[in-house]
Amino acid sequence: MTEPNATGTPVTEPKIFKGLAGVVVDTTAISKVNPDTNSLLYRGYPVQQLAARCNFEEVAYLLWYGELPTETQLADFETAERALRHLEPAVRRVIDELPLTAHPMDVVRTAVSVIGASDPQTSDDSPEADLAKAVRLFAQLPAIVSYDQRRRHGLGLVEPRSDLGYSANFLHMTFGEVPELVVVNAFDVSMILYAEHSFNASTFTARVITSTLADYYSAVTGAIGALKGALHGGANEAVMHTFTEIGLGAGAGERATDWLAQALVDKRKIMGFGHRVYKSGDSRVPTMRAALLTLIEHYDAPEMLEMYESLEAAMASKKAILPNLDYPSGPAYHLMGFDTLSFTPLFVAARVTGWTAHIIEQRASNSLIRPLSLYNGHDERHVPGAAHSA
Ligand code: ACO
Repeated sequence: MTEPNATGTPVTEPKIFKGLAGVVVDTTAISKVNPDTNSLLYRGYPVQQLAARCNFEEVAYLLWYGELPTETQLADFETAERALRHLEPAVRRVIDELPLTAHPMDVVRTAVSVIGASDPQTSDDSPEADLAKAVRLFAQLPAIVSYDQRRRHGLGLVEPRSDLGYSANFLHMTFGEVPELVVVNAFDVSMILYAEHSFNASTFTARVITSTLADYYSAVTGAIGALKGALHGGANEAVMHTFTEIGLGAGAGERATDWLAQALVDKRKIMGFGHRVYKSGDSRVPTMRAALLTLIEHYDAPEMLEMYESLEAAMASKKAILPNLDYPSGPAYHLMGFDTLSFTPLFVAARVTGWTAHIIEQRASNSLIRPLSLYNGHDERHVPGAAHSA
C-alpha cells in the first residue's frame, strides 16, 4: 500500500508475511522438504529409504555428520552412546523434586536444563563440543522420558542395557522388557520420521537462539518449549485425546463422523491434520501409517483402525485436509503402551538430532535472526507534564 507521509512523500508499507508463511530465511544442507512431490530428503536420502534400511542411530549420525556411518564409525558411535545411557544422578534428583502432575514436556525441558547447567562444555560452541553434547542428550533422553513415565505410574527406574540398540533399550527402560521386533521396528521408524524437518517451528526456535550466540542447551530447551504446543509436536498427544473423546470401541466409525461434524461447527482445529508446508499429503504419513498397521495387527486392535480410517475419511470429505505425521504416530505410541502425556517427549527424543544439526549449521555461518515488525499501536503521545520533543 502506498500513502503519502507528512511531507507528501509516498511511503510504501512493508508486506507482512504472517507466521513467516512462504518466507525463505536461509539455506540448509540438512533436509529438503518438497511439497510438490510430497518428498523429504535427509542429507539427500529419501526418508522412506532410511526408515526401511537404517536404524535411528545411523540416521542420527547422518544428520550430524552429513554421511551415513561406516561400520567402524557406527560401532564407535554406539559405544559412546551406550556408555552415556544411565540417568545422571543430578537429573534424577531434580525430576524427583517435580510434582507427578508436571507435564512430561516440562519435565524434559527441566532435565535438559539441568544437564546443560552441569556440563563443563556448555560454553564451548565448537562443532566437536556440540556433537559431544548431542550424543549426551541423545543417550540421556530415553532415560529421562522413560523414568518420568514410570514414576507417574508408581514404578521405579529401569537401568539401561548396553547390549541393546537405541529403540529396544528405550522400550526396555520404559516397560521393563523388550517387546517383539515388530514393535521395536515401528518405534525406530517413528524416531527416524520425527528426526528432522527443515525450518519447522522448534528447529527455527533453536536457530534463533543459536543466532544470538547462546549455548547449545539454551537452544534445545527453547526448542522443547516450541515443540510442546498443540499446533506443532503437541499434536500427537492431542490426536489421542480426540480418539478418547470420541471413544474407541464398537461404533467408533459412526461416532467419529458425528463428532467431526460437530467439531467443525464449533470451529475446532482437528489435531493431526493439516500442515503449513504440505498441502497434498505429509511425505512421512504413508511410512508411519504402515508401521501403525503392523502394530494394529500385532496387538489385534481393529477398533483403532476403525477410528483411524473413519476420522481420516470424514476429514477428507468435509474439509479435504489430510493427516500429518502426528496422526498415525499418536495411536502407534498408544498401542505400544506409552501414556498419552509421553508422546511429545518421544518427539523430543527424535527431533533432538535435527536440532543439533541445525545448531551446528547456524553457528557455521551465523547472522543474528532479527525480523522487523510494522507498528500499529497508538500514535506518538506525551506523558502529562513531559516536555514535547521538537
Ligand atoms: N482442522 C480444521 N481446520 C484446519 C486444520 C485442522 N487441522 N488445518 C487447517 N485447517 C483450516 C483452517 O481452519 C483454515 O481454514 P480457513 O481458511 O477457512 O480459516 C485453513 O485450513 C488454513 O489453515 P491454517 O491454520 O491457516 O494453515 P497453517 O498453514 O497456518 O496451519 C497447521 C498449519 C498449524 C499445522 C494447521 O493445519 C493445524 O492447526 N493443524 C492441527 C495441528 C497439528 O496437527 N499440528 C501438527 C503439525 S505437523 C507436526 O508437528 C509433525
